[in-house]
Amino acid sequence: MPDKPIISILGGTGAQGSALALRWVNAGYPVVIGSRNGRKAGQACEHISGQIKSASISHDDNVGAAAKGQIVVLCVPYASQRSTVESVRAALGGKILVDATVPLVPPKVARVQLPEGGSAVAAIQAMLGDSVKVVSAFQNVAAHVLGDLSSAVDCDVLVCGNDVAARETVIKLAADIGVRAIHAGPISNSAAAEALTSILISINSRYKVSGAGMRITGLDLTRK
Ligand SMILES: NC(=O)c1ccc[n+]([C@@H]2O[C@H](COP(=O)([O-])OP(=O)(O)OC[C@H]3O[C@@H](n4cnc5c(N)ncnc54)[C@H](OP(=O)(O)O)[C@@H]3O)[C@@H](O)[C@H]2O)c1
Repeated sequence: MPDKPIISILGGTGAQGSALALRWVNAGYPVVIGSRNGRKAGQACEHISGQIKSASISHDDNVGAAAKGQIVVLCVPYASQRSTVESVRAALGGKILVDATVPLVPPKVARVQLPEGGSAVAAIQAMLGDSVKVVSAFQNVAAHVLGDLSSAVDCDVLVCGNDVAARETVIKLAADIGVRAIHAGPISNSAAAEALTSILISINSRYKVSGAGMRITGLDLTRK
Protein backbone atom coordinates (compact mmCIF):
# COMPACT_ATOMS: atom_id res chain seq x y z
CA MET A 1 0.00 0.00 0.00
CA PRO A 2 1.41 3.45 -0.91
CA ASP A 3 2.26 5.94 1.84
CA LYS A 4 -1.22 7.42 1.93
CA PRO A 5 -4.02 4.99 1.05
CA ILE A 6 -7.32 6.14 -0.45
CA ILE A 7 -9.89 6.40 2.34
CA SER A 8 -13.53 6.05 1.31
CA ILE A 9 -16.13 7.22 3.81
CA LEU A 10 -19.62 5.73 3.45
CA GLY A 11 -22.05 8.28 4.87
CA GLY A 12 -19.31 10.86 4.30
CA THR A 13 -21.90 13.62 3.89
CA GLY A 14 -22.98 13.29 7.53
CA ALA A 15 -21.71 14.88 10.70
CA GLN A 16 -19.07 12.32 11.68
CA GLY A 17 -18.10 11.25 8.17
CA SER A 18 -17.59 14.75 6.83
CA ALA A 19 -15.56 15.76 9.90
CA LEU A 20 -13.27 12.74 9.48
CA ALA A 21 -13.02 13.50 5.76
CA LEU A 22 -11.96 17.08 6.52
CA ARG A 23 -9.26 15.91 8.94
CA TRP A 24 -7.90 13.22 6.61
CA VAL A 25 -7.87 15.51 3.57
CA ASN A 26 -6.08 18.10 5.69
CA ALA A 27 -3.51 15.43 6.57
CA GLY A 28 -2.90 14.74 2.86
CA TYR A 29 -4.97 11.59 2.42
CA PRO A 30 -6.99 11.10 -0.77
CA VAL A 31 -10.63 10.78 0.35
CA VAL A 32 -13.73 9.57 -1.50
CA ILE A 33 -17.09 10.59 -0.04
CA GLY A 34 -19.65 7.81 -0.40
CA SER A 35 -23.29 8.85 -0.53
CA ARG A 36 -26.72 7.90 -1.83
CA ASN A 37 -27.09 11.44 -3.16
CA GLY A 38 -24.61 12.87 -5.67
CA ARG A 39 -25.66 16.48 -5.17
CA LYS A 40 -25.26 16.30 -1.41
CA ALA A 41 -21.91 14.55 -1.81
CA GLY A 42 -20.74 17.24 -4.25
CA GLN A 43 -21.59 19.89 -1.68
CA ALA A 44 -19.65 18.00 0.99
CA CYS A 45 -16.62 17.91 -1.31
CA GLU A 46 -16.92 21.65 -2.03
CA HIS A 47 -17.12 22.38 1.68
CA ILE A 48 -13.81 20.58 2.20
CA SER A 49 -11.99 21.84 -0.87
CA GLY A 50 -13.09 25.36 0.08
CA GLN A 51 -11.11 25.03 3.30
CA ILE A 52 -8.08 23.06 2.15
CA LYS A 53 -5.88 23.97 -0.79
CA SER A 54 -4.93 21.07 -3.06
CA ALA A 55 -7.50 18.84 -1.40
CA SER A 56 -7.69 15.36 -2.86
CA ILE A 57 -11.42 14.78 -2.48
CA SER A 58 -14.04 13.21 -4.73
CA HIS A 59 -17.37 11.43 -4.39
CA ASP A 60 -19.25 8.41 -5.63
CA ASP A 61 -22.19 6.30 -4.60
CA ASN A 62 -21.50 4.01 -1.67
CA VAL A 63 -20.75 1.00 -3.89
CA GLY A 64 -18.34 2.98 -6.09
CA ALA A 65 -16.68 4.57 -3.07
CA ALA A 66 -16.22 1.21 -1.34
CA ALA A 67 -14.61 -0.15 -4.52
CA LYS A 68 -12.20 2.81 -4.80
CA GLY A 69 -11.18 2.91 -1.15
CA GLN A 70 -8.16 0.99 0.07
CA ILE A 71 -9.58 1.60 3.52
CA VAL A 72 -13.34 1.96 3.90
CA VAL A 73 -14.89 3.89 6.78
CA LEU A 74 -18.53 3.45 7.79
CA CYS A 75 -20.31 6.50 9.23
CA VAL A 76 -24.05 5.91 8.93
CA PRO A 77 -26.76 5.72 11.57
CA TYR A 78 -27.14 2.37 13.34
CA ALA A 79 -30.50 1.76 11.68
CA SER A 80 -28.80 1.69 8.26
CA GLN A 81 -25.48 0.12 9.28
CA ARG A 82 -26.24 -3.44 8.20
CA SER A 83 -28.05 -2.59 4.96
CA THR A 84 -25.25 -0.21 3.92
CA VAL A 85 -22.59 -2.86 4.56
CA GLU A 86 -24.68 -5.48 2.69
CA SER A 87 -24.89 -3.13 -0.29
CA VAL A 88 -21.09 -2.74 -0.57
CA ARG A 89 -20.06 -6.19 0.66
CA ALA A 90 -18.61 -7.32 -2.69
CA ALA A 91 -16.13 -4.43 -2.63
CA LEU A 92 -14.79 -5.05 0.87
CA GLY A 93 -12.85 -8.31 0.46
CA GLY A 94 -9.30 -8.07 1.82
CA LYS A 95 -9.81 -4.54 3.12
CA ILE A 96 -10.05 -2.85 6.49
CA LEU A 97 -13.55 -1.61 7.31
CA VAL A 98 -13.40 1.07 10.01
CA ASP A 99 -16.81 1.20 11.67
CA ALA A 100 -17.76 4.22 13.83
CA THR A 101 -21.32 3.01 14.42
CA VAL A 102 -22.93 3.57 17.79
CA PRO A 103 -26.17 1.66 18.34
CA LEU A 104 -28.12 4.60 19.70
CA VAL A 105 -31.85 4.03 20.01
CA PRO A 106 -33.66 7.38 19.80
CA PRO A 107 -35.12 9.08 21.66
CA LYS A 108 -33.23 7.76 24.72
CA VAL A 109 -29.74 8.22 23.28
CA ALA A 110 -28.23 8.96 26.70
CA ARG A 111 -29.14 5.44 27.84
CA VAL A 112 -26.92 2.46 26.96
CA GLN A 113 -29.02 0.16 24.74
CA LEU A 114 -26.67 -2.32 23.11
CA PRO A 115 -28.11 -4.79 20.60
CA GLU A 116 -28.57 -8.47 21.29
CA GLY A 117 -25.09 -10.00 21.13
CA GLY A 118 -23.51 -6.92 22.68
CA SER A 119 -21.83 -4.93 19.92
CA ALA A 120 -23.14 -3.45 16.68
CA VAL A 121 -19.67 -3.49 15.14
CA ALA A 122 -18.87 -7.06 16.21
CA ALA A 123 -22.10 -8.09 14.47
CA ILE A 124 -20.75 -6.64 11.22
CA GLN A 125 -17.48 -8.59 11.61
CA ALA A 126 -19.52 -11.76 12.15
CA MET A 127 -21.61 -10.98 9.07
CA LEU A 128 -18.61 -10.30 6.80
CA GLY A 129 -16.31 -13.09 7.96
CA ASP A 130 -12.55 -13.00 8.27
CA SER A 131 -11.83 -11.78 4.74
CA VAL A 132 -12.73 -8.26 5.90
CA LYS A 133 -10.83 -6.81 8.85
CA VAL A 134 -13.41 -4.82 10.77
CA VAL A 135 -11.99 -2.24 13.16
CA SER A 136 -14.16 -0.25 15.54
CA ALA A 137 -13.05 3.36 16.18
CA PHE A 138 -14.12 7.01 16.60
CA GLN A 139 -17.27 6.21 18.63
CA ASN A 140 -16.18 8.48 21.49
CA VAL A 141 -15.18 11.68 19.71
CA ALA A 142 -17.84 14.20 18.74
CA ALA A 143 -18.21 15.28 15.12
CA HIS A 144 -18.00 18.98 15.91
CA VAL A 145 -14.71 18.39 17.77
CA LEU A 146 -13.24 16.60 14.75
CA GLY A 147 -14.67 19.22 12.41
CA ASP A 148 -12.90 22.15 14.05
CA LEU A 149 -9.42 22.21 12.54
CA SER A 150 -8.44 25.17 14.72
CA SER A 151 -8.57 23.05 17.89
CA ALA A 152 -6.67 19.99 19.00
CA VAL A 153 -8.76 16.89 19.70
CA ASP A 154 -8.59 16.56 23.48
CA CYS A 155 -9.73 12.97 23.97
CA ASP A 156 -8.76 9.38 23.20
CA VAL A 157 -10.55 6.88 21.00
CA LEU A 158 -10.68 3.14 21.59
CA VAL A 159 -9.71 0.87 18.69
CA CYS A 160 -11.06 -2.69 18.72
CA GLY A 161 -10.51 -5.40 16.16
CA ASN A 162 -9.44 -9.01 15.89
CA ASP A 163 -6.46 -8.21 13.64
CA VAL A 164 -3.70 -6.38 15.50
CA ALA A 165 -2.05 -5.06 12.32
CA ALA A 166 -5.38 -3.64 11.13
CA ARG A 167 -5.83 -1.92 14.50
CA GLU A 168 -2.31 -0.52 14.17
CA THR A 169 -3.18 0.88 10.72
CA VAL A 170 -6.25 2.62 12.13
CA ILE A 171 -4.27 3.96 15.08
CA LYS A 172 -1.88 5.57 12.58
CA LEU A 173 -4.80 7.02 10.59
CA ALA A 174 -6.06 8.54 13.84
CA ALA A 175 -2.63 9.83 14.88
CA ASP A 176 -2.25 11.54 11.50
CA ILE A 177 -5.37 13.62 12.26
CA GLY A 178 -4.28 14.44 15.79
CA VAL A 179 -6.36 11.83 17.59
CA ARG A 180 -4.73 9.57 20.18
CA ALA A 181 -6.10 6.09 19.56
CA ILE A 182 -5.56 3.16 21.89
CA HIS A 183 -5.53 -0.59 21.26
CA ALA A 184 -8.62 -1.82 23.13
CA GLY A 185 -8.69 -5.50 22.27
CA PRO A 186 -10.81 -7.72 20.03
CA ILE A 187 -13.87 -6.61 18.12
CA SER A 188 -16.24 -7.85 20.84
CA ASN A 189 -14.77 -5.16 23.13
CA SER A 190 -16.32 -2.57 20.83
CA ALA A 191 -19.41 -2.97 23.03
CA ALA A 192 -17.65 -0.85 25.67
CA ALA A 193 -16.85 1.98 23.23
CA GLU A 194 -20.40 1.87 21.85
CA ALA A 195 -21.85 2.02 25.37
CA LEU A 196 -19.49 4.81 26.40
CA THR A 197 -21.00 7.13 23.78
CA SER A 198 -24.35 7.15 25.59
CA ILE A 199 -22.52 7.89 28.83
CA LEU A 200 -20.71 10.83 27.19
CA ILE A 201 -24.06 12.11 25.83
CA SER A 202 -25.44 11.88 29.36
CA ILE A 203 -22.39 13.75 30.74
CA ASN A 204 -22.82 16.45 28.07
CA SER A 205 -26.39 16.93 29.19
CA ARG A 206 -25.68 16.91 32.94
CA TYR A 207 -22.72 19.32 32.72
CA LYS A 208 -24.17 21.46 29.92
CA VAL A 209 -21.29 20.91 27.48
CA SER A 210 -21.24 19.46 23.98
CA GLY A 211 -17.94 17.66 23.58
CA ALA A 212 -17.19 15.50 26.62
CA GLY A 213 -14.51 12.94 25.87
CA MET A 214 -12.37 10.48 27.75
CA ARG A 215 -8.67 9.84 28.33
CA ILE A 216 -6.88 6.59 29.19
CA THR A 217 -4.21 7.34 31.78
CA GLY A 218 -1.18 5.43 32.95
CA LEU A 219 0.18 4.65 29.49
CA ASP A 220 3.71 5.04 28.21
CA LEU A 221 3.18 4.91 24.46
CA THR A 222 6.92 5.08 23.78
CA ARG A 223 7.03 1.45 24.99
CA LYS A 224 5.03 -1.25 23.21
N1 LIG B 1 -22.21 12.67 15.13
C1 LIG B 1 -21.31 12.35 16.07
O1 LIG B 1 -20.81 13.21 16.84
C2 LIG B 1 -20.84 10.92 16.21
C3 LIG B 1 -19.79 10.61 17.08
C4 LIG B 1 -19.37 9.30 17.21
C5 LIG B 1 -19.96 8.29 16.45
N2 LIG B 1 -21.00 8.61 15.62
C6 LIG B 1 -21.63 7.52 14.87
O2 LIG B 1 -21.28 7.67 13.51
C7 LIG B 1 -22.37 7.28 12.68
C8 LIG B 1 -22.77 8.46 11.80
O3 LIG B 1 -23.22 9.51 12.64
P1 LIG B 1 -23.64 10.92 12.04
O4 LIG B 1 -23.98 11.78 13.18
O5 LIG B 1 -22.60 11.36 11.05
O6 LIG B 1 -24.96 10.50 11.25
P2 LIG B 1 -25.86 11.33 10.22
O7 LIG B 1 -25.21 12.66 9.98
O8 LIG B 1 -27.26 11.30 10.72
O9 LIG B 1 -25.81 10.41 8.93
C9 LIG B 1 -24.63 10.15 8.24
C10 LIG B 1 -24.96 9.78 6.81
O10 LIG B 1 -25.56 8.49 6.76
C11 LIG B 1 -26.30 8.42 5.56
N3 LIG B 1 -27.60 7.83 5.84
C12 LIG B 1 -28.60 8.36 6.61
N4 LIG B 1 -29.67 7.55 6.61
C13 LIG B 1 -29.35 6.49 5.82
C14 LIG B 1 -30.05 5.33 5.42
N5 LIG B 1 -31.31 5.08 5.83
N6 LIG B 1 -29.40 4.46 4.60
C15 LIG B 1 -28.13 4.69 4.18
N7 LIG B 1 -27.43 5.80 4.53
C16 LIG B 1 -28.03 6.67 5.34
C17 LIG B 1 -26.48 9.83 5.03
O11 LIG B 1 -25.65 9.98 3.87
P3 LIG B 1 -26.28 10.15 2.37
O12 LIG B 1 -27.66 10.72 2.51
O13 LIG B 1 -25.31 11.09 1.74
O14 LIG B 1 -26.25 8.78 1.80
C18 LIG B 1 -25.96 10.69 6.15
O15 LIG B 1 -25.35 11.88 5.71
C19 LIG B 1 -23.51 6.85 13.61
O16 LIG B 1 -23.51 5.46 13.76
C20 LIG B 1 -23.15 7.55 14.91
O17 LIG B 1 -23.67 6.90 16.05
C21 LIG B 1 -21.44 9.89 15.47
